[in-house]
Amino acid sequence: MIPISRGDGVWLTDVEGKRYLDAVSSWWVNLFGHNNPRIKEAIKQQLDTLEHVILAGFTHEPVVKLSERLSKLTGLGHAFYASDGASATEIALKMNFHYWRNTGKDEKNRFISLQNSYHGETLGALGVTDVAIFKDTYAPLLTQSAQMPSPDFRLAEPGEGAEAFALRCAQALERYVAAHHQEIAAFIIEPLVQCAAGMGMYDPVYLKRARKICDQYDVHLIADEIAVGFGRTGTMFACEQANIKPDFICLSKGITGGYLPLSAVLTTDEIYSAFYDDSIVRGFLHSHSYTGNPLACSAALATLAIFETDDVIVKNKQTAAYLSGKMQALANLPIEHLRHQGMIWAFDIKTDKPAFSNACYMQALQQGLLLRPIGKTIYFMPPYVINETEIDFLIQTTRLSIEQSL
Ligand SMILES: Cc1ncc(COP(=O)(O)O)c(C=O)c1O
Repeated sequence: MIPISRGDGVWLTDVEGKRYLDAVSSWWVNLFGHNNPRIKEAIKQQLDTLEHVILAGFTHEPVVKLSERLSKLTGLGHAFYASDGASATEIALKMNFHYWRNTGKDEKNRFISLQNSYHGETLGALGVTDVAIFKDTYAPLLTQSAQMPSPDFRLAEPGEGAEAFALRCAQALERYVAAHHQEIAAFIIEPLVQCAAGMGMYDPVYLKRARKICDQYDVHLIADEIAVGFGRTGTMFACEQANIKPDFICLSKGITGGYLPLSAVLTTDEIYSAFYDDSIVRGFLHSHSYTGNPLACSAALATLAIFETDDVIVKNKQTAAYLSGKMQALANLPIEHLRHQGMIWAFDIKTDKPAFSNACYMQALQQGLLLRPIGKTIYFMPPYVINETEIDFLIQTTRLSIEQSL
């Protein structure tokens, strides 16, 4: 355990004063650096007026403003709040199932997801997750779901392009949905990047096809943008790159710039309307005590303000171009599947050494870099404020850490 006493920008400092570059944005949540003055100030101001209030029958300005901003950004008009990603997944799954029940289609009660998917670790979310290490122990407790072939292009046949492979996977999806659509309530998917699977990336054409298939067979599409939302893939939301609108979008992690726990599920007018009724059983009875917490909402509003005033999506393209250029320095290492999407970079190490991942993690730490390899995958998902000197340090230290771990 490394006891951290403070953070500044991309740096974490431990109790003895040693600094670590946070190349994983503290589990993919931090966007604009630790100790960000603007987000900090927004939380301080909110603290002077209202720290929290029940969000049933009551409301407050930060949650109303945030709902309006998120609605504009996603094109989905209704927001439901919770505090973490897994809870957002639970809400989307429950609301989706309940929608079909309210519209007289009780038989639609099964979910589908992708192979190697990750949607969180509460029981409902684990039911649609497909990562054995998190799931197997709890298998007897979980709702069964079916997994569709993943379009992660590392799984393509030799010589098969990413787009052709994505289309082949979409055909498999269509065959399954055509045969089972009467029971399928929703398809939940991580758009463009399956992060926990080791930054598995895929062609946006898969999302386009998935949207079409879901429309054709009356199945909802749930976009889990918990990890990829808020600019991570190069657009505000990953779905934009396929030009599609999901029926539900799950947001968390970067929503508050990495400051406070908050998640939101946004959905359509049509789905919302199916719940709007005097009968209590038709209502969506799902409560979390800290739902829509004002401090977290104020951090989210400050985060969105930074996106607007600093032209973040455009600026990130310049940062990404610099970092991508520097990846050349890793070219003579035994790596494969070098991939990049927006502000995420990943590659796999060709090694048979089972201890590689931990050895590399430890080597990097010793040299002041927080890297968290996923198996043989090394990835960078830094805060957007990383500068050129810090990128140089990141690449150089990664190269040394890999060399020392092989
Ligand atoms: C795609 C995706 N969904 C859901 C989650 C779960 O979020 P949380 O850890 O906040 O429960 C994560 C977390 O890594 C994730 O990457």
